[in-house]
Amino acid sequence: MRARHRRHFLLDPEIGHLNHGSYGATPLPVLRQQWDWQRQMETRTVEFHVRRQDALLREARAPIAAYLGAELDNTTFVVNTTTAMNWVAHALPLGPGDQVLLNDHEYGAVFRCWRVFAAERGFEVVSAPLALGENLLDCLEGHLTPRTRAVVVSHITSATAQLLPVAEVGAWAKERGGWSIVDGAHAPGHVDLELEQLGVDFYMGNLHKWLWAPKGAALLWVAPDCQKWIKPLVVSWGVDPVHPVGEPAWVAWVQMQATRDPSAFLAAPAGLDYQRRFHEPLIESYCIRRMQRLSRRLEELGARPLPWARLKMRAFEWPYPQDPAALHLELFLKHRVELPVYRWGEKLLVRFCLQHYVDDSELERALKGLSESRVTASLL
Ligand SMILES: Cc1ncc(COP(=O)(O)O)c(C=O)c1O
Repeated sequence: MRARHRRHFLLDPEIGHLNHGSYGATPLPVLRQQWDWQRQMETRTVEFHVRRQDALLREARAPIAAYLGAELDNTTFVVNTTTAMNWVAHALPLGPGDQVLLNDHEYGAVFRCWRVFAAERGFEVVSAPLALGENLLDCLEGHLTPRTRAVVVSHITSATAQLLPVAEVGAWAKERGGWSIVDGAHAPGHVDLELEQLGVDFYMGNLHKWLWAPKGAALLWVAPDCQKWIKPLVVSWGVDPVHPVGEPAWVAWVQMQATRDPSAFLAAPAGLDYQRRFHEPLIESYCIRRMQRLSRRLEELGARPLPWARLKMRAFEWPYPQDPAALHLELFLKHRVELPVYRWGEKLLVRFCLQHYVDDSELERALKGLSESRVTASLL
């Protein structure tokens, strides 16, 4: 079937875009909104930055916060999840003797962030191996020590596309007197969120992945009793505002970072409109049922599906001995599809993302490419 919504995107029609998960894809109505904000910024630059920007940012954040079940004053815009994680790692008073607990499904840049701060401040990062299908709380409990001060967990993991029980982790951490920090990079627009109800301490999520915002738009939510910990990673005017910003201090500190282009933030509500108008009614029919059909086809080729919580993203173990980079390139060069192929521990995984704009022909090309690669693998 031809995906009629493809015309909403600038995506090259020659290339199958099966990797929405890494960077998202921005619909044209959202880009047009962003370009309009940029036009306004360029036509009356000083007025825009000095007299309008603060109020505009607060106005833009309001519908996003409401959609995610968050109080406005507990949220701030950040350019991406990685940056938000850096703010939190920078903020928390961790030092020698302390431990921060992650698991081996966590994102590479997030590990790097915690390792760098740990090396600088003398605390320790522990990575708990979490088997597929294993209960996360049992796994965390097995690695808990009297020195564990914080736990970092993805809401939806990147490599394995697992939906993790973050509310339970929040309660678990609270009972043990630690902070819970959730990497929700893939969650906004992908799963229902009620941030005030989750019971975690810090939650950050990209708007540019599954909520159709322009690239460089994410939200950081901080529980009221943890906002005191936030301190500037980038020190700018927000620390001692020269003009009223109408925001709580911690929000001004994070959001006001000297001169920068806020158009991705300002266009984020247009992404939310797009989600409501074009996407929500289609998720079940286009994305979920197609993922079920695709899973059956992949299994026929020998792929082993990883556990799946009816997300628009699913990872499969590809059991043939192949070089992931070579297979990824072959799929792109010969079959014209962008499909992530990578190692996770000992396993070789491929990850499919099915948005409503994905055409059946793109899936067929990916399946053909994977099928042909089995022949190459058998010759190795
Ligand atoms: C689980 C997870 N965390 C964090 C990130 C980082 O997102 P960003 O590059 O937008 O900071 C990603 C990106 O794919 C991710 O999958």
